[in-house]
Amino acid sequence: MSAAAANAEIIAEYAGSEPIKAALVLGSGLSGIGELLDDRVEISYGELVGFPTGGVSGHGKSLLIGQLNGKRIAILTGRAHYYEDGQSDVMRIPLETMKAIGVDTVLLTNSAGSLEADTPPGELMMIADHINYNGLNPLIGEQTDDRFVNMVNAYDPHLRAQAKAIADDLMIALHEGVYAWYSGPTFETPAEIRMIKGFGANAVGMSTVPEAILARFLGLRVWACSSVTNMGAGLSDENISHHHTKEMALKGAKKLEMLIERLVGEL
Ligand code: HPA
Repeated sequence: MSAAAANAEIIAEYAGSEPIKAALVLGSGLSGIGELLDDRVEISYGELVGFPTGGVSGHGKSLLIGQLNGKRIAILTGRAHYYEDGQSDVMRIPLETMKAIGVDTVLLTNSAGSLEADTPPGELMMIADHINYNGLNPLIGEQTDDRFVNMVNAYDPHLRAQAKAIADDLMIALHEGVYAWYSGPTFETPAEIRMIKGFGANAVGMSTVPEAILARFLGLRVWACSSVTNMGAGLSDENISHHHTKEMALKGAKKLEMLIERLVGEL
């Protein structure tokens, strides 16, 4: 039995086997939305096969199943990053598990550095496209022809339009742009930030891109949004740090929660 199938059985034992519509992956400091779930069941990653149990502070280590705005969803309260162990496909089994429990849409969130003066810390940037700047790909080694994933419109245009309409209705400013994936764990240098901005990126971060690739490979719809925690290195006088990221994530978190709650309701 595959790890995903084994996990689906474990999840059904804890939370029942009614299909789950969507999965939400939470970025650093964005865990508040888990509190909004009704009929919430919590399963520690340690109970599941191939879920990441290591950790980055500010990230949770459990899977939540429950109802949000009338829809049954799963929340991955934390993710693993490439920089933790050098595995760019570290989120493959968790995402395969989501597919095995019926998920057709994944909502990815992260904290990111902004490259745009009009998108300062506390603002949200919905991801319209990405630049995989690492030369890494979670599908390297995949043997099937499914590995040749078409990445045009990887971030579902319909979901983006839905989210924009919801944000307008809630009077939340929702920027849209290109997210560049740097491996981390160091933050970028000012020279790297100037370069990646010249390449067309609007925000930079250490996650999300490999998950979006894996999700598209699995045939899942993808929506993703960054909560801006800082300006990219060299673009402001602030001192970039992980502590600062976690603190500043709270500024955008409330808006992101409101947006996601409504978006889930419309799925
Ligand atoms: N760079 C990379 N990742 C990040 C940043 C950043 O400036 N801020 C939050 N995550």
